[in-house]
Amino acid sequence: MARKIILDCDPGHDDAVAMLLAHGNPDVELVAVTTVVGNHFLEKVTRNALSVATIAGITGVPFAAGCPRPLVRDIQIATEVHGETGLDGPELPEPAFAPDPRHAVDLIIDTVMAHEPGEITLVPTAGLTNIAMAVRKEPRIAERVREVVLMGGGFHEGNWSAVAEFNIKIDPEAAHIVFNEKWPVTMVGLDLTHQALATPEVEAKIAAVGTKPARFVLELLDFFREAYRENQGFEHPPVHDPCAVAYVIDPDVMTVRKAPVDIELRGELTLGMTVTDFRAPAPADCTTQVAVKLDHERFWNLIVDALERIGEGGAA
Ligand code: BDR
Ligand code: CA
Repeated sequence: MARKIILDCDPGHDDAVAMLLAHGNPDVELVAVTTVVGNHFLEKVTRNALSVATIAGITGVPFAAGCPRPLVRDIQIATEVHGETGLDGPELPEPAFAPDPRHAVDLIIDTVMAHEPGEITLVPTAGLTNIAMAVRKEPRIAERVREVVLMGGGFHEGNWSAVAEFNIKIDPEAAHIVFNEKWPVTMVGLDLTHQALATPEVEAKIAAVGTKPARFVLELLDFFREAYRENQGFEHPPVHDPCAVAYVIDPDVMTVRKAPVDIELRGELTLGMTVTDFRAPAPADCTTQVAVKLDHERFWNLIVDALERIGEGGAA
């Protein structure tokens, strides 16, 4: 049985790849896609999500726009990494369908409550504003959600400050809510995603797929490579967000370690740090685990396989 997931995202180059992976892999089923302010303003990331769906040929899945700003802090967007559209590089098609009229927070709640306990997995690949709002509005989802597998944070690495990662730093209060809930949380953070590098060998495999969606991914990666070279000194870009989807599909794609994680909300230099306690043994009631080591080949094979299954997608 395919695992049902809600992808909460802010496309975003790597969010787009996450969406393609979730759509193309038969072991997960996208039951909803929700968007939140992050890499760009809400309007842009929502439009981007719909354009990516159009390229991938995703139909019959509700897409809904969520929170236009973080819970407490001012908006911070990442144009230096994702460009002026939030998805610079490829030409984006007009979306083939309109978003669901519901607010993303309501779509998340409705979807979780309409399924059996343990059926829905939340996969946030953006700031955690929507997820925090959803569990505050309907606390019963905390027990019904199977698990939260999120891209964000890092136990040793930061990118939006020396010690904090973008998705957590832009809404640390939301992250604090999500990490302290009853549901199990897997933190697929920078320590892991900085291993998910799109090397020339990876690009060659994607190019060999030879379809429109594959060319779209290559164009995304071209832009991402330059952005990461200029801004963060990477030779090849780390493709963060699909790592979280990959873990749901195939837990053996990475090793994880149980450890308590909490979010720093007061530190002058450390705001948004995902403070991870590796002292052994992890307490019996620990609900968090962190991703440590990626099987690079296995991960990229999942992406290539998903692209092959998608074929020409929506031929947009
Ligand atoms: C995360 O930040 C965003 O820019 C990416 O889409 C990813 O979710 C990496 O820090
Ligand atoms: Ca993202």
